[in-house]
Amino acid sequence: MKDENLIAKAIEARERAYAPYSGFPVGAALLTRSGRVFTGCNVENSSSGLTVCAERVAVFKAVSEGETEFDTIAVATAPGASPCGACRQVLREFGRDLRVLVADTNGHVLEFSLDQLIPKAFPDWSLESDKP
Ligand code: THU
Repeated sequence: MKDENLIAKAIEARERAYAPYSGFPVGAALLTRSGRVFTGCNVENSSSGLTVCAERVAVFKAVSEGETEFDTIAVATAPGASPCGACRQVLREFGRDLRVLVADTNGHVLEFSLDQLIPKAFPDWSLESDKP
């Protein structure tokens, strides 16, 4: 799938965000290596610690459907926000080579590798593993 189509799916998923508390809708679209796409939106809760981000909704949907190998995730917000630290760690569980497309709603996109967004990630890096 082309990047622009994946981004379009993230923007579409953003429209389904349940974000009455923050007013900050987020959409995600996760492309598996097998070519499937799982979308996610943020789902907030009146007990605010229970809110789940769009990226994690997409990952959990994919994993629960038997997919654990991912190629690209597109994340769409109005200002083009990058994934939070918790989502980076959750994505990192499934590999460091994931492409991350950060999109705003005006057609601007930046690409990162997950390794750029979460270098020296737990559990692969430690003082011990970094010894020459
Ligand atoms: N949010 C996401 O969905 N993904 C992120 O990576 C950062 C934050 C959501 C959580 C909350 O519903 C809203 O954005 C404001 O923080």
